[in-house]
Amino acid sequence: MRKPYLNYCLLMSLLFACPGLMAQERIDVHTRDISMVFTVGASGRLYQSYLGTRLASNSAPADTVMEAYAQGGGSYLFEPAIRIVHADGNPSLDLRVDSWRVDSTTDNNIRVTCIVMKDPVYPVTVVLELKAYLRENVITSSVRISHAEKSPVRVTNFSSSMLHFHADSYWLTQWHGDWAREMHMEESRLTSGIKIIDSKLGTRADMYQTPVFLLSLDGESTEETGKVLAGTLGWSGSFQLLFEVDEKDRLSVLPGMNPYASDYVLDPGKTLKTPEFIFTYSDEGRGLASRNLHDWARSYGVLDGRGSRMTLLNNWESTQFAFNEQKLDTLFGETRRLGADMFLLDDGWFGNKYPRNNDHTSLGDWQENKVKLPHGIARLEKDAAEKGVKFGIWVEPEMVSPKSELYEKHPEWVLKLPNRAENYFRNQLVLDLVNPAVQDFVFRVVDDLLTQHSGIAYLKWDCNRMMTNAYSPYLGSRQSNLYIDYVTALYAVLERLRAKHPAVPMMLCSGGGGRTDYGALKYFTEFWPSDNTDAVERVYIQWGYSYFFPANTIACHITSWGKEPLKFRTDVAMMGRLGYDLDVSKMTDKELSFSQQALKDYRRLGATIGQGDLYRLLAPYGSDRAALMYVDKDKKKAVLFGYVLHPRYGSSWAPVQLQGLDAGKVYRVKEINKYPGTKAELVEDGRTFTGEYLMKAGLSVLGKKELTSMVVEITAE
Ligand code: DGJ
Repeated sequence: MRKPYLNYCLLMSLLFACPGLMAQERIDVHTRDISMVFTVGASGRLYQSYLGTRLASNSAPADTVMEAYAQGGGSYLFEPAIRIVHADGNPSLDLRVDSWRVDSTTDNNIRVTCIVMKDPVYPVTVVLELKAYLRENVITSSVRISHAEKSPVRVTNFSSSMLHFHADSYWLTQWHGDWAREMHMEESRLTSGIKIIDSKLGTRADMYQTPVFLLSLDGESTEETGKVLAGTLGWSGSFQLLFEVDEKDRLSVLPGMNPYASDYVLDPGKTLKTPEFIFTYSDEGRGLASRNLHDWARSYGVLDGRGSRMTLLNNWESTQFAFNEQKLDTLFGETRRLGADMFLLDDGWFGNKYPRNNDHTSLGDWQENKVKLPHGIARLEKDAAEKGVKFGIWVEPEMVSPKSELYEKHPEWVLKLPNRAENYFRNQLVLDLVNPAVQDFVFRVVDDLLTQHSGIAYLKWDCNRMMTNAYSPYLGSRQSNLYIDYVTALYAVLERLRAKHPAVPMMLCSGGGGRTDYGALKYFTEFWPSDNTDAVERVYIQWGYSYFFPANTIACHITSWGKEPLKFRTDVAMMGRLGYDLDVSKMTDKELSFSQQALKDYRRLGATIGQGDLYRLLAPYGSDRAALMYVDKDKKKAVLFGYVLHPRYGSSWAPVQLQGLDAGKVYRVKEINKYPGTKAELVEDGRTFTGEYLMKAGLSVLGKKELTSMVVEITAE
């Protein structure tokens, strides 16, 4: 049923069809606690008048200074959100609001505002779509660009959004790194001019720069204080986050697909849809911004975000490519002995003409290797079932090894420059996913696995390289569409797969943390944050991701990479989705019984960690310790983690004040994950306190010695 408000919108849109009759018009996009207000100027141009905490409807001034989606080629002198070169070569665009509407959806927590803009001279239509998630205080912004010119146009800029701020100072927090050193955090003040965070990797967004940011206004923010915009782009390819401070110290933020080498050739009647820019605003610091994004992600951003997660034993670190049926049978048994839910078979199970015994061959030849697995996957399913554990398997279906039967059969399916030497990364090449035949192949690889093997309960989808020498034999003269079309094609394959296999949990992996974005996470239940599983490194890496992603999406495995005590490694891995990747047969009795108990405790507490509200209490940056906690929505259960990294001799710390509890409730605090034969380190262990006391006085969750940690279960009486 249309609400009167919607009819009002319709009326306004009819009025807009008659330019000149209209006075200024306002378009409000509200969530429960934040507002974004647009003004349509008398000329029909669209302006952003306000972005911040919630305003009463119609209380923003009709500010017509900052163009809400500025167009290049006319009088706008800064970085445009959009620029089009028309079929006749004219490089200008002049967008006027034609109509706007609020679409109702079946979910009354979502309000979708579509602002339709048209050029009076050229038949170009641009629709700015804003989805307001009321409860979560998250807004997503995306744009659809189409035209009815006689021949293709070139779209050279295509931001997903354009946001404006006017504050005394702007502080940008960004994350960057490389393989095995993901999510290094850095904060700097934005100065006059342009700052760009981007990647040009094609198959993945992340590796050197991560498509996420925090923007603090009027000074640096803390966990509990300050005005903060937290934003991330839902796109698994080359991206750009552009920040421009103009001569009047106003800031424009332009997030989107990277326009680098991507002048998009758009046919008449076709639509270029930008990815969603996902953002929230908080005037109570970073913690609230993260919790907003986590709530949104679990309900809307991640597949089965509200579901439970399986614990697992993975074999990548312990066996690499060297395993066979007998070995795997033993590993199923060890998974069972450990008490994990599932065994995940990693790379190395396929290829016959070129067996996958190292990373130089076989990608593309997705048949079981007959030497390692003479009875195929079917035997593994059976053996795992007999041991009472679930079975998961690794694939990397977008890739091809130059030494593979697939490459021999289809050299034209590979992205590579025709007249230059092949350029390898991890000895492999990328398939030309833009080609529909390749899409069918990739779909079939995964579909066959899942259809022929109902015992496969989990998939790890890897992507171990970026594009270099990027050239699609399929695209011919439209090479500048490649970066965008590749990712669109990937999503099309994932759509098809999810239509047929909606529920199977999948891990998003890209040579460590190369794909950590909400564009792909719609199809995946979790992601692999980094190949670096050293526990101290992981405190920082997992902490970094926690600003944008909830704990149930962050896969954290205990391995032998680092030399920290097993208890420390376990306590670090427990702050996300817990898993193991080590040789269980080498564990001592104490190590094994400690791990078995940890898995039992995680089974009890996983929902609080995965679904609860995160409070980052003490950050590890520039310090020697860290503490964080998760609190159930009903505030009846919480889990607190404290880590001591590498303190100076004689360091000691004050009790850590907790957050997020109910001040009036009485809680019992109990240290868990105690190593066999050791006593509780927590001075307050076993006692009860009011929530008020715990939040004002705190708990001594930090010990004195390096590489020690505590996990405390907090339960309302
Ligand atoms: C890279 C991933 O990040 C690792 O976990 C592992 O799956 C290897 N690929 C296998 O080749």
